[in-house]
Amino acid sequence: MAVFVNGVIFEGVDTAAPDCWRLEAYMARGGYQALKKILDNKIPQEDVIAEVKNSGLRGRGGAGFPTGLKWSFMPRSFPGDKYVVCNTDEGEPGTFKDRDIIIYNPHALIEGMIIAGYAMGCKAGYNYIHGEIFEAYELFEEALDEARKAGLLGQNILGTDFSFDLFAHHGYGAYICGEETALLESLEGKKGQPRFKPPFPASFGLYGKPTTINNTESFASVPFIIRDGGQKFLEAGKPNNGGTKLFSISGHVNRPGNYEIPLGTPFATLLEMAGGMKDGKKLKAVIPGGSSAPVLPGEVMMELTMDYDSISKAGSMLGSGAVIVMNEDVCMVKALERLAYFYHEESCGQCTPCREGTGWLYKVIHRIANGEGRDGDLELLESVGNNMAGRTICALADAAVFPVRSFTKHFRNEFEHLIKHKKALVDHKWC
Ligand SMILES: Cc1cc2nc3c(=O)[nH]c(=O)nc-3n(C[C@H](O)[C@H](O)[C@H](O)COP(=O)(O)O)c2cc1C
Ligand code: SF4
Repeated sequence: MAVFVNGVIFEGVDTAAPDCWRLEAYMARGGYQALKKILDNKIPQEDVIAEVKNSGLRGRGGAGFPTGLKWSFMPRSFPGDKYVVCNTDEGEPGTFKDRDIIIYNPHALIEGMIIAGYAMGCKAGYNYIHGEIFEAYELFEEALDEARKAGLLGQNILGTDFSFDLFAHHGYGAYICGEETALLESLEGKKGQPRFKPPFPASFGLYGKPTTINNTESFASVPFIIRDGGQKFLEAGKPNNGGTKLFSISGHVNRPGNYEIPLGTPFATLLEMAGGMKDGKKLKAVIPGGSSAPVLPGEVMMELTMDYDSISKAGSMLGSGAVIVMNEDVCMVKALERLAYFYHEESCGQCTPCREGTGWLYKVIHRIANGEGRDGDLELLESVGNNMAGRTICALADAAVFPVRSFTKHFRNEFEHLIKHKKALVDHKWC
């Protein structure tokens, strides 16, 4: 997937150059200067965390939780092992940004994780990589090797008394292993199913030890923050929404791909960067933050800026930054049917409301899409959703309900038409 860049992670990365990911190329772009700055000046751990807090960096994995604040939850005086874990599971439909960070700029992630290890007093870290991007996993292993040989990982990093090592682990492609506690279970060699929370990973994480989990893009933003200062990162975005962010655009645009742009950029600008609507068709709807983010009508999106606050005010989520663009030909019932099938397939089955509810959502939407919908089906969908959201161990159930609620709210006429006339209002051309 091509990367079109304009921000802090891909600053100076020539993605067309085959060796852009290598240590030498990263060093030439100012790589590992942030780590050197910390080690040369013996910057206290709390100052590193304070800088990350000042940057306004919010977690890029979906929830947008402030990264610096999360780091400050790590118990400082814990006597045993503590871990940093990176989430490169990236299974959310529409999201394909983290693999490009690993493919084109893996040392930004490695440096970010080393800095995180330093700031939180950890001796080891793990990167959990989605099982279906094996080439990215192999490349990351090679980048780790380069860093070890250069004395940037392992014992006494760059001749100091700071030691930290980092390991890569690949999963097998289950979406649920992106949920942080399922990821930890899987990393421990167990079945990848979410844990009850509390306790949270900050107190009971990997192997029962304090652990901080962040998304790939969150860690990869850290070297810039430490090298150039949190304030500069903050100013690259907008208040409460610091920095630049990668958006994965897919669907009916001329140039789908990843675009790193300042948070607060108008959606209309992003759409233009992606070459505009394919075949000059009309914009109908956008899922702005990955398949679990509520869908918004095109005309609403055209008025919004791409940042956490603006999208949430409009009733959706910036999520992972996966922007799925749909044109006027899309049958919204058929589109929702596909999403509902995904969540039904990916439920881990631990909680009854999710295991059964995702099946019911799919079954009812499937029959509506196939002209077999019944009176009362929309009310049934609402009732099933109400019995799922907020009643399960993890947020997958909510993620399955949000699209159903938003599709049936904004595009209700298409569902009603299909139930009544047994024929789609919009032809199923898209599928
Ligand atoms: C079902 C489910 C799937 C998730 N998948 C991912 C994922 O693929 N990548 C990711 O970074 N976070 C994913 N998350 C969010 C993680 O649980 C966690 O919040 C995140 O990795 C924290 O990193 P951040 O604070 O840097 O965003 C998922 C959450 C849920 C409930
Ligand atoms: S909500 Fe669904 S995916 Fe999450 S733990 Fe329960 S059954 Fe598993």
